[in-house]
This record gives sequence, structure tokens and C-alpha cells, in this order.
Amino acid sequence: MEDNTNEIINRSEYGGSIPVDNVQALASSKDLKDIPSRYIRPEIELDVVLTDESLQIPVIDISKLAVAGQPGYDDELENLHVACRDWGFFQLINHGISESIDAMKKVTHEFFNLPLEEKMKCAQMPNNIEGYGQAFVVSQEQKLDWGDMLFILPLPIPQRNMMFWPENPDSFKTTLDKYSDTLYGVSMKLLKLISINLGIKPEAITKMFENCNQGIRMNYYPPCPEANKVLGLTPHSDATGLTLLVQVNDVQGLQIKKNSKWVPIKPLPGSVIVNIGDVMEIMSNGEYKSIEHRAVVNFEDERLSIAAFHSPGIEAMIGPLTELIKDNTPKYKTIGSEDYLKLIINSKLDGKSLIDQMRIE
Ligand code: OGA
Ligand code: NI
Repeated sequence: MEDNTNEIINRSEYGGSIPVDNVQALASSKDLKDIPSRYIRPEIELDVVLTDESLQIPVIDISKLAVAGQPGYDDELENLHVACRDWGFFQLINHGISESIDAMKKVTHEFFNLPLEEKMKCAQMPNNIEGYGQAFVVSQEQKLDWGDMLFILPLPIPQRNMMFWPENPDSFKTTLDKYSDTLYGVSMKLLKLISINLGIKPEAITKMFENCNQGIRMNYYPPCPEANKVLGLTPHSDATGLTLLVQVNDVQGLQIKKNSKWVPIKPLPGSVIVNIGDVMEIMSNGEYKSIEHRAVVNFEDERLSIAAFHSPGIEAMIGPLTELIKDNTPKYKTIGSEDYLKLIINSKLDGKSLIDQMRIE
């Protein structure tokens, strides 16, 4: 392995989340009568949620994209382009990685089922984004999400912070290691296909992801007696390049914003949900757009999901790719990855506010 010690940056310098109550423990406490007001979101009552099931994100069969020129390749490549351009979200099927996904689902479920003291061995630390806790709490007034998470940065490997990798269940580490590698592989494959669709040399994008910053977030959303008044995850777009999300159990909750309405996603069994993140929107100079999404919770059932975020290496500049700046008009600023990361960590999740800070008026 290449020695890139010099590039190792101290991830703890970027800041972290203010600690708040564990939601799983709160949800299971016997005397939970009223949900604390910090979780109640009066504003969501007015949201329009589409119940028309005909509106669903595109499905991409990646087995048709294995070799250029194979039957169905061109059509599926075009489908992928339309999915990225018009939806920013799609489901991937026939991906061939079910074994790794199933193993990861199993250990994730097992981890969240452990007693609180056991999970707290991986608790977030001040000024650090990794570990078990809650995401993006930056003020004492901010509304809180009805969910806990375990966030780990498996890539780049030299920067792994093993103190946040659970010892329990004992197969967690090897399973996550495999999962990280597998999902990185699928992401690189997708990035190559995306480059072809954008009409640029694959290396223009893949080089930036060679030293990929990968974050894996395991989300646990407990059931809530006032499920219609809380949110599992605040509306946001992912700040990263490409996100690959799997549902651990078959409780639905992911919704995407389309034409100002929330569209519930119905994942096909075994599929991987892929979405375009802010970095991809910026790199493509707006040709592809990151889409706002959120997670709602269920009255009776817990819900678990695993999101894998893929971003360029820390040495990369985040900005529109030169090849894609048409008529010399970049629509977004170019900044260093490290500054971009600081921007992410210190922003509260708030719709597409992050990318607004990158937009050139
Ligand atoms: C995320 C995310 C949605 C879900 O972790 O960024 O959008 O369904 N998760 O858990
Ligand atoms: Ni997300």
C-alpha cells in the first residue's frame, strides 16, 4: 500500500455533533407518554405526500452495463442518464453483491439490538463525526431527529479510526471491511458509466475518487407513538458524490422531493438505492442534481437503513469539471475538499442549503 502518511489529516479537527438523548432508549422507556417537544415538527403537517404509487424512481439493471456493446447496453446507459438527470435517484438491481449486503444487514441489526452500554462503547466523541450517536446537532434549539446512527469512515484505509468499529457482534469489522470494498467497487463502476453519459473521459472523475472518502452510516429509527409528527431524518441532500443506500428491514420510510411533493420510495427487495449527491451536482455543473430526501418513521415498527457515501479524496478540488463548463460559465465555486468537508460538518442538515453556499449567482 502506498505511504500517504503526509496526507493523513486529523479528522477530529473538523468538529462534531452536540450530544443528545439516545432515541432508541427514549422510545423504549416505559413512561414515554408525550414525545419531548424538540422532536415535534408542526411544519410537516402541511407537507404533501404523494400516495399515487405510479410515481416511482427509475430501476437500473446494472448487469446490462457490464460490457459495452452487450445486448441492452445502450438502452440501459441512456436509462441511467435519464435517471441521473431527471430524478437524481434510482434503484439498482442485478448488482451481484447481495451476499455482502445481507451480511452487513445482519451485523447492523445485531449491533442496534445490543444493550445501550454496549453500543456506547462506540459513542461519538467531542469534535468527531464518527461513532454512535446522532447526526448534525449544532445548536441547543434545533429540532431533533427520531433516530440514532453509527457513522464510520472506512476509506481511505490508512485513516480508519478503529475505536468506532464495534467489537460486538464479533463479525462486524470483517463484514464492514468487505462491505466498504464492495460498495466502493460499485460506486466506481457507476462513476465510469456516469462519465460516459456526461461525455467525458472516465479518468476525469474516477481519479478524484481513487483516494475516496467513504462514510457508512447505519441508521436506526425506533417506532414512535406520534410518528406523523416527527421525522427520522430531516430533509437534506447528501453532501457527497454518490450515495448507495440499502434498507435493512422491509419497513419503508424514505421519501424524495419531486415537484415540491414528497414521494415515498418503495424499494424492490434486494435493490440498492443510489442517489446523486451535491458533489456530483457541482462536478457536472448542474447537469445532474442532488435531490432532497428525508426519512419518516413508523408507529409500530423499527426501521433500519445503511447509507454509504462516496466523496473525492481529500486532495481533490470540488468544483465543476473543466470539460463540463459550457460557455465558460461555472455555476458553482471551486474549493478544496478539506474546506468543503468543514462546510458540511458545521452545517445543520437543512434541505439544499449547503449547495446554495457553493452556487455562483
Ligand atoms: C441518509 C439518508 C435515508 C434513509 O442517511 O443520508 O438519507 O432511508 N437515509 O435512512
Ligand atoms: Ni441522505
